[in-house]
Amino acid sequence: MRRRRVAVLGATGMVGQSYLLKLEQHPWFEVVALAASPRSAGRRYLEAASWVQQEGIPAAFTGMELLPPSAAAIRASGAELVFSALPSEAARELESELATSGLKVVADTAAHRMDPEVPLVIPEVNGEAVSALSGPGYIVSSPNCSTIGLAMTLAPLQRHLGLSRVCVTTLQAVSGAGYRGVPSMAILDNVVPYIANEEEKIRRETHKILGADFEIYAQCTRVPVLAGHLETVFAELAAEVELPRLRELITDLPALGLPSSPERPLLLREETDRPQTRLDREAGGGMTTSLGRLRLEGRMLRYVLLSHNTVRGAAGNAILIAELLVSRGLA
Ligand SMILES: NC(=O)c1ccc[n+]([C@@H]2O[C@H](COP(=O)([O-])OP(=O)(O)OC[C@H]3O[C@@H](n4cnc5c(N)ncnc54)[C@H](OP(=O)(O)O)[C@@H]3O)[C@@H](O)[C@H]2O)c1
Repeated sequence: MRRRRVAVLGATGMVGQSYLLKLEQHPWFEVVALAASPRSAGRRYLEAASWVQQEGIPAAFTGMELLPPSAAAIRASGAELVFSALPSEAARELESELATSGLKVVADTAAHRMDPEVPLVIPEVNGEAVSALSGPGYIVSSPNCSTIGLAMTLAPLQRHLGLSRVCVTTLQAVSGAGYRGVPSMAILDNVVPYIANEEEKIRRETHKILGADFEIYAQCTRVPVLAGHLETVFAELAAEVELPRLRELITDLPALGLPSSPERPLLLREETDRPQTRLDREAGGGMTTSLGRLRLEGRMLRYVLLSHNTVRGAAGNAILIAELLVSRGLA
C-alpha cells in the first residue's frame, strides 16, 4: 500500500507527542510536516518541544523544522492528510481552510465536533459514520478524551439493553489539560472539582456518537496523575439482565484488524481493585479501555473505567480513524 503523506499540527504538545510515538514507524502513514504555534515556527523540533514522554523523541523528528500553523505552509509540504492537535480556538478556521482546499483533516480539537456534517467517530463504536463523507477534502473529529472511554463502555449496553440514565464522575489526568494546562501549585496534593466545559462535552458528544438521548449527568475532576482518565459510572439499564449475561455483553465491541486497533477494545478486569490508573493505562498500547468493579442491583449497574487520554482519548483514536478512512478508500 502507498504510504499517505501526513502532517501533525500541534506536534509539540501532549497529544502531538503521542502522535509522534505512534507515527514513527507507521506502515500506512509517513510524516512529512510538523507544525506548532507561531512561537515555534522555524525552530527544530528538539529545541521547541518540552518532551515529557518516557520514550525519547523518535530520531526521525528531532531535526525537523516546525512549520507555522498556516494552510499555505501545510499544503506546500505535500501532506494529503492532516492530524490536528491545536488548541480549539486556533484550529477552527485552519481546519476548515485545509478541508476546503482538498485535504483530509482528522481533528482532536473541539472546534468542529458538533457540526452536523462532521462525523464524530470512535471506529469500533460508530465507524460507519465516515460513510457520509464526500468531496476530496473533509473534517472528521475524534471525541473529547473523557467522552471516548465512557462512550466505548456505554455502546454495548445501549445496543443490547438500552440505557435510561447515566451518571459519571471523572478523575482526569493533568496531561488532559495540555502542557501548560494546570499549574503544579494548583494540582499537587490536590483534587480540583471543575474542568471548564467538560461536563457539557460529555453529554452532547456521547449523544452524538451513540445516536441516543438518554439522560447523562457528569461531574469532572482533575487529579494529580500524569496520564489516564478514570471514571466511575452509574448506568440505569432500560431492560433487566442477569450479571453473567451482562459480563458477556459489556465488552462487545469489534476488533477492527487495522494497524492501530487493539485486539480487545474493551477489557473487563476480574480483580476487585482494578482498573487502576498507573497499572492499566497502557493496556493495548493505550488503545484498550479497561473496566471493572461491575455491580448490578436491579437495573442499576455500577462500574469503573480507565482510558488513556492522549492515546485512545486523542492521537491513537485519530490515527485509527485515519486507518479506517484509508481502508474504506476515503483517504
Ligand atoms: N491532552 C489530551 O488528553 C487531549 C485529549 C483529547 C483532545 N485534546 C485536544 O487536543 C488539542 C491539543 O491538546 P494538548 O493537550 O496537546 O495541548 P498542548 O499540550 O497545550 O499543546 C498545544 C499545541 O498547539 C500549539 N499551539 C498553541 N497555541 C497555538 C496557536 N495559537 N496556534 C497554533 N498552534 C498553537 C502548541 O505549540 P507550541 O509548543 O509552539 O506552543 C502545541 O504544539 C486541544 O484542542 C485539546 O483540547 C487533548
